[in-house]
Amino acid sequence: MTQAQSAIVPDGGPYALYVMLKVTDDAALVLQQCQRLAEIAKQTQEVFGDAQMGVAVGFSPAFCRTHGLAYPEGVTDFRPRESRKHRAPHTDCDVFIHLHGLRHDLNFYVFQQWLTPIKKVVDVVDETAGFRYLDARDMTGFIDGTENPQGLARDAVAVIPDGPFAGGSVALVQRYVHDLPAWERLQQAAQEKVIGRTKPDSIELEDMPDTSHVGRVDIKENGVGLKILRQSLPYGSVSGEHGLLFLAYCQQQHPLDVMLDSMFGERDGKTDMMLSFTQAVTGAIMFMPSQTTLAQYV
Ligand code: HEM
Repeated sequence: MTQAQSAIVPDGGPYALYVMLKVTDDAALVLQQCQRLAEIAKQTQEVFGDAQMGVAVGFSPAFCRTHGLAYPEGVTDFRPRESRKHRAPHTDCDVFIHLHGLRHDLNFYVFQQWLTPIKKVVDVVDETAGFRYLDARDMTGFIDGTENPQGLARDAVAVIPDGPFAGGSVALVQRYVHDLPAWERLQQAAQEKVIGRTKPDSIELEDMPDTSHVGRVDIKENGVGLKILRQSLPYGSVSGEHGLLFLAYCQQQHPLDVMLDSMFGERDGKTDMMLSFTQAVTGAIMFMPSQTTLAQYV
């Protein structure tokens, strides 16, 4: 059976590491090291204890094309968005690594073991450590993940079910930097209108503005709701940059693109009010091959 890589479907655990890399030389060596990632995580946990780690590695469509790696038709590089007020930039990167589990130190250790032998032939473009915050809240104080698919639906939403790329997934990665002082100047009722849910218990507002975040991303096509599986976590330091490392997996790119278009004003000219309080600073679409496809890449 073609299996998805282990970070994609399971609930993420309290710690994650998200890394974007650019390959500067010897792509074949980097690819071999990508194929070793799961083994490094396994060996680490044999020595230091089970942290229920999930690991996954993916590649940008541009990198796949350049190096002859098979990827599904219709998966395209991240298209930057720019409305009058808001920007979603594209980040030039080739490889994306997602690690999650019960221990921050083991995420760190596994990535260090993985990176050391190829340090001279890659640039780390963005390395962000995420952590579960309070009772699974974003730093805005709102619960993040309420409408995430649960149980078997997680697999159905995130993983390509059949065909030559069965077990694969498409990832959207964006790092957002929050402006919490501006956010905290809003009263709770105004914040709830921006998100579209109540703050204490994440109940959908009856009079949800269509420019609220949920109003922008809860989209139906032909009567069917578009679904994605989010694996985001808050990150950062109190005195420095902080926000949400947004990561979502989907068996197709289309829902990810439609939601972004809707947030950034490319669907009906309206933008997501939340974007006045947070700024996307990275952005990439990555193909996350199944374990079998990854092992076959040469
Ligand atoms: C829902 C926060 C970016 C897609 C939510 C909710 C919060 C939230 C608080 C409501 C609770 C829930 O269902 O999880 C954020 C923050 C973001 C961000 C802080 C960035 C700073 C995005 C992006 C996308 C997205 C970029 C898609 C491209 C969704 C979806 C839902 C959701 C699909 C569920 C909507 C529903 O059906 O009710 N988000 N989000 N979010 N978000 Fe985001």
